Amino acid sequence: MQFIDLQAQRRRIEPEINRAVRRVIESGKYVLGPEVGELEKQLAAWCGARHAVSCANGTDALALALMAWQLKPGDAVFCPSFTFVATAQVVPWLGAWPVFVDILPETYNMDPASLEAAVERVAAEGKLKPKVVIAVDLFGQPADYPAIRAICDKYGLKLIADTAQGFGCTLNDKHPSDWADIATTSFFPAKPLGCYGDGGAIVTQDSALAELIGSLRVYGKVTPTDAAERNFHHDPKYLSLRVGMNSRLDTLQAAILLEKLKIFADEIEMREAVAQRYTAAFAGRTRRAPKVIAGGRSVWAQYVIECDNRDGLQAHLAASAIPSMVYYPVPIHQQDFAARFAPPAGSLPVTEEASCHVLALPMHPYLPPDDQDRVIDAVLAFNG
Ligand SMILES: Cc1ncc(COP(=O)(O)O)c(C=O)c1O
Repeated sequence: MQFIDLQAQRRRIEPEINRAVRRVIESGKYVLGPEVGELEKQLAAWCGARHAVSCANGTDALALALMAWQLKPGDAVFCPSFTFVATAQVVPWLGAWPVFVDILPETYNMDPASLEAAVERVAAEGKLKPKVVIAVDLFGQPADYPAIRAICDKYGLKLIADTAQGFGCTLNDKHPSDWADIATTSFFPAKPLGCYGDGGAIVTQDSALAELIGSLRVYGKVTPTDAAERNFHHDPKYLSLRVGMNSRLDTLQAAILLEKLKIFADEIEMREAVAQRYTAAFAGRTRRAPKVIAGGRSVWAQYVIECDNRDGLQAHLAASAIPSMVYYPVPIHQQDFAARFAPPAGSLPVTEEASCHVLALPMHPYLPPDDQDRVIDAVLAFNG
């Protein structure tokens, strides 16, 4: 049994993928080729947003957002600690300061009350300027965007939706990009919408921001708006107006993603069916099974339960050849790199508790019912 079976998906669309890859190889347009533009159009349409700008990975997508807003030393960026390190690690790239916020015990997503308390605390201390909030759609389900947006509006903060694990999720039929100034995603292969390498994107309603990020991803190249003002008629990448980076998406990855997008809605339904089956079986039988926010649709990047004896359960599953993973055993604020950003002691109790008990079970659209049964039976048979 695979924890995530990427080959099952490949078998479903193998001829289409092979044709797309061949077409790109024959075209010779290997970086930012026409498929990249087409993918950006389709990603924006998927979210009902005006713009999508692709980039090299989901980490760069976050960094590009912070660069566009010119974050600098002394600026505070509020984010959860219970997420992949990338969410917070980009903040010190800009010299800014990650301020860690606790999560809700049932959804593992940012706790709006903890966010507001952190913003008030930072404002009262007066050492840092509250600037940006990064909410994460952890394990595939949307954060509480209406509450988080309201806090951002109250304190004049920008909002990023780090939807690397949740691209495709909705809350009241709306996408995270409906609330966030910028939504970022990752196309890392194991993500619900993954490619065959690294890739990422930002989605935004803001045309000026999309144009600026398009410039920052190619060394701060001149944008069409800049060019009109400057009368510059050469290749835009040879006039650099701002410090940017190289974060282009390969055309091959875009071509692969275009094929995967065609089956993405169906795959989300298939993931939902697996999740519903797990949830029905685990009701009242585990320390905690996932709960999705009211009105939310998860894309089930992970299906995570909790167990008092998590290590015992993991060993018990392994003995039956059932793979499982711990996301995340060490919250970001306890990682060595984050030592200097340590939050006040005891301010992240839910995060610290979750990291000791969570266990992710096999989850992907093509998980056969027999395998689902094996996972369910093994979890329920564990008496650790
Ligand atoms: C929540 C979250 N944010 C950001 C990232 C970074 O994405 P990437 O690996 O494409 O840089 C990841 C993925 O690993 C993630 O899970």
